[in-house]
Order: sequence, then structure tokens, then C-alpha cells
Amino acid sequence: MPTIIDIIKASKCYKQADKLVHALREVSLTIERGDVYGIIGLSGAGKSTLIRALSKLVTLSSGQIFFHGDDIALMEAEALRNFQKTIGMIFQHFNLLSSRTVAGNIAYPLEIAQVPLTVQKQRIDELLGLVGLTEKRESYPSQLSGGEKQRVGIARALANQPEVLLCDEATSALDPQTTKEILNLLKAINKKLGVTIVLITHEMDVIQHICNKVAVIENGSIVEEGLVSQVFSDPQHGTTKNFLQSASHEIPEEFFKESSPNRKLLRLKFKGKAAGEPIISDVVRKFNVDTNILLGWVDRLQEMIVGTLIIEITGTPEGIENALRYLLEKSVYYEVIENER
Ligand SMILES: Nc1ncnc2c1ncn2[C@@H]1O[C@H](COP(=O)(O)OP(=O)(O)O)[C@@H](O)[C@H]1O
Ligand SMILES: [Mg+2]
Repeated sequence: MPTIIDIIKASKCYKQADKLVHALREVSLTIERGDVYGIIGLSGAGKSTLIRALSKLVTLSSGQIFFHGDDIALMEAEALRNFQKTIGMIFQHFNLLSSRTVAGNIAYPLEIAQVPLTVQKQRIDELLGLVGLTEKRESYPSQLSGGEKQRVGIARALANQPEVLLCDEATSALDPQTTKEILNLLKAINKKLGVTIVLITHEMDVIQHICNKVAVIENGSIVEEGLVSQVFSDPQHGTTKNFLQSASHEIPEEFFKESSPNRKLLRLKFKGKAAGEPIISDVVRKFNVDTNILLGWVDRLQEMIVGTLIIEITGTPEGIENALRYLLEKSVYYEVIENER
């Protein structure tokens, strides 16, 4: 897929009182047409700074951002106007104009772009249909639920038919059910309209639900990135693992009995071919260990199905070690889990 956005060694320093805050440190990322690119990080990691830099709301201290090969920092008036039209943005707190109706909010970017009134009306009708708010056309933001407000935000962001939609914690103020509805809407917009989406979040569930690619940001740096199916089934960085643990199923306290050289608690991930092989029974037979399956579940990570098992393995330290080596040979990703709380 062709590249839309190329971020090259983007850094941003803020001055706070008498100290410097490095909000971004040489962040490099490539976003391709059709991506739903998720950027996940804890509060203060630099997510908002990054997404604001993409829409030129923040200027970088160093580094570059290219949009279709053009450095956005060097764009002149007309190029800049075109660029701003091709980028839509939605926010955690919706940022609607309270004095305007739903239709009036959606009309706003069309007015700025000096779209003729008849075209505006037609466009607003289409957008209301798209986000399922036709009935709320004349309502004011104060009369809407959070999910409805975000639908208005989405319609407004799409008014000028952008190529890219930037979402800054778009579902963080919503309950889980509404979050799902909004994520499904974003997914449909990506599929139906071909809009490329960049979203930032602190929730792994959001990434798991709609993203094809993910970057993990910590302290201003990208610590891990790639296809969601790869990163989630074989995470490399501790921060990624922590996010995954918080998103996945709780492991009951009782499973964390005394840990000893003769007993380990493992999280196993099976994907692709490994899922069809009798690996656990092989391990028991070959290495004279015992296993006890405590929990299991299956996740769908975009196009890939990944099975997870929490097992207890007991035996001699040597037997356990050999068993673990065998698992790796068989491409079963495993992690020895300690008490996670
Ligand atoms: N306008 C600003 N002025 C000074 N410091 C800022 C500003 N915006 C963000 N920061 C600092 O930059 C860091 C990253 O912030 P931010 O990008 O908002 O992170 P996130 O969105 O991941 O929570 C934080 O330490 C924050 O305090
Ligand atoms: Mg933020």
C-alpha cells in the first residue's frame, strides 16, 4: 500500500518552568493508505503531542513529517489548506459547538471551506445517515448522549472528505458498550470510505478491536511496532506485555501458589500451525513433567486467531527447562508468569 504519512525522527521538547520535557524522542513511523494505525501508551507518554504534530497543531523541535511526500513544515498557504482538508480529527471530549445544532456543527467545516449551501445540505444529510443521527439533526449537543456527541464529532471530521482521520482518545470518555459502537463505526468508515485512521489510546482493547497496526509509545519513544497480529501474539517489550496483560483475562489469585524450581506458571500462545499439534501431550511424554491446564481462551487479532493457555508445569528443574526449550522450537510463545499484582 502507498505511504500516506512518513514520520522521521520527530522530536518535541516543551519548556515547563525551568526544565525541559521531551514529549517525543526521534519517533519514526510510516502510515500506509487503508491502515487503522493504533498508538498506545500511558498518560504522559507523548500520544497527544504526536497526533497533534500530524495535524500541525504542534510544531516539532526536530525531525520531519511528510504527507504524500511533502514536508508539512514547509507547506505554503494553498498546500497547507489542502492538507488541512485532507486531515480530519476527533477528540476525547468531542469539542462540539454548544450553540449550534447537530447539523450546524457538521456544517461548520463546510462553511469554512466555502462549500455552496445546496452542496452543504446534501453533504450533511449523507453524513447524518452515515453516523446514524438523522433524527437528531436539530438537537443541541446538551441534548445528546456521549456516544451521539462523538458521532457528531465523526461526521464533522468527515465533512470535507478527508483521507486521514486522527482520533485522540476518541472513546476514552465513553462506556464499554458505546465504545464498541463507535469503534465499529470507525471500522466501517475505514472499510467503506477507505479513510486511513490513526488513533491514540491507552486501552489495548481498542487496538485489538479495530487496528491492523500498532505502535507502543513510552516516555516519548516508540518501543515496539508492527502488525497487531504479530505484536500481540509475540510481544517483545515489557510495556507491550503489560498492556496485553491488562487487556486480557484476569488470572485468579489462587493460581499463584508458592513458586518453586519444580513448579512454574506459564502463559502459552498458539498461533497458526502450532494450534493443530498435540504439543502439551508431547511435552508431558518427552520430558517427564506434568501439566495442568488452568485457563484457556481464544482471541481474534485481525486476520489471525491466537489461542492462550495458562498452565502449571511441574517436574524436575531440568525437565521443565527442556520442556520450555521444546516449546520455543515448536514456535509456541511462552511466558513464565509471576504474581502480576
Ligand atoms: N503544551 C505543553 N506545554 C508543556 N508541556 C507539555 C505540553 N503538552 C504536553 N506536555 C508534556 O509533554 C508530555 C507528553 O504529553 P502528551 O503528549 O499530552 O501525552 P499523552 O497524550 O500521552 O498523555 C507530558 O509530560 C506533558 O506534561
Ligand atoms: Mg493525551
